[in-house]
Amino acid sequence: PSIDEIVNLHDFEAVAKAILPAKAWAYYSSASDDEITIRENRAAYQRVWFRPRVLRDVSVVDWSTTILGQRSSLPVYISATALGKLGHPEGELNLTRAAGKHGVIQMIPTLASCSFDEIVDAAVPGQTQFVQLYVNRDREITKKYVQHAEKRGVKGLFITVDAPQLGRREKDMRMKFVDESGVAKVQENQSGVKKDEGVARAISSFIDPSLSWKDIPWFKSITNMPIVLKGVATPEDALMAYDYGLAGIVLSNHGGRQLDTARSGIENLIEVVEALKTRGPWPNPKFEVFVDGGIRRASDVLKAIALGASAVGVGRAFMYSFCAYGQEGVEKAFQIFRDELEMNMRLIGARTIDELSPDMVDASAIHSH
Ligand code: FNR
Repeated sequence: PSIDEIVNLHDFEAVAKAILPAKAWAYYSSASDDEITIRENRAAYQRVWFRPRVLRDVSVVDWSTTILGQRSSLPVYISATALGKLGHPEGELNLTRAAGKHGVIQMIPTLASCSFDEIVDAAVPGQTQFVQLYVNRDREITKKYVQHAEKRGVKGLFITVDAPQLGRREKDMRMKFVDESGVAKVQENQSGVKKDEGVARAISSFIDPSLSWKDIPWFKSITNMPIVLKGVATPEDALMAYDYGLAGIVLSNHGGRQLDTARSGIENLIEVVEALKTRGPWPNPKFEVFVDGGIRRASDVLKAIALGASAVGVGRAFMYSFCAYGQEGVEKAFQIFRDELEMNMRLIGARTIDELSPDMVDASAIHSH
């Protein structure tokens, strides 16, 4: 279908499924084991209901915000997703260019299929980028990567902590791994790459499962970028991240690709914010909480923010948009978010992101699975 026929973010997924090679579709769409968590990521948002306010003069609504102190035109950032070239020849650069044009923040993946420098070079002046880190068993490689990112102007370090071992994504594992241009690039960038059990595992064998809280001071010593832990799921770990002096956490289950039957980020958010209130009033300028997983609608975004998140991450929806239509697809995805945000904020009675508050949602059914 032509891009003009795309009405919502689900449509990109349908197009991607129809046009992608089987292997790319398997890698992008798969989740671990029985794929219960990936379904729950969508279902959980449907257990949160709005309590809209009326008569608030919503003629002008503004959904721009700041994320880790950086301006963002949307309360949504592009989360790191590996191997963009499996789905489109320009890979991650589609995201970079669309993001630069529209003031959206991109998180660059360690396992990008374009080189890190290519992605930074494709940014326009003043464009904000974050970087996602898989920590290498060889800490010198990690240190160089992080310090290079900071030198190149990256504004935030997201350390992925939910993947000491890659989840078993069985759809992906059934596709026998053969070499591809995108994968080859990753092999160049990271040492210790193995070639046996599907794309995901093949590219991830360098990741260090010994990573622990004891390493956190070292990360703080090698960079001045704000450090965020990506893949936290409990109030216990949220408080540890806070007490270690980190800048924030992403409540994420890696898009359902790691621990299956892990709860959704939106469900965990409520307990996490309650726990963090023991450290001071919420929102707390010293610590931001992000949520990702299953976000396909502006209503999902607004629910997470009302419950205390600063912003949300989106993975697959942006990937599918560039698989289907390249950079233009990503721009269209931003436009869909803008249109939906405008309408939903008016209907909820929130003129700005700051006006979204917990009393605008009813999350009392969130734990009823
Ligand atoms: C991911 N994700 C991910 N996360 C990460 O920290 N490093 C990575 O390399 C990847 N790679 C990756 C590849 C693909 C194909 C997907 C779908 C996801 C997880 C990603 O950052 C994010 O947490 C989820 O994608 C959010 O869920 P949704 O938006 O895809 O539902």
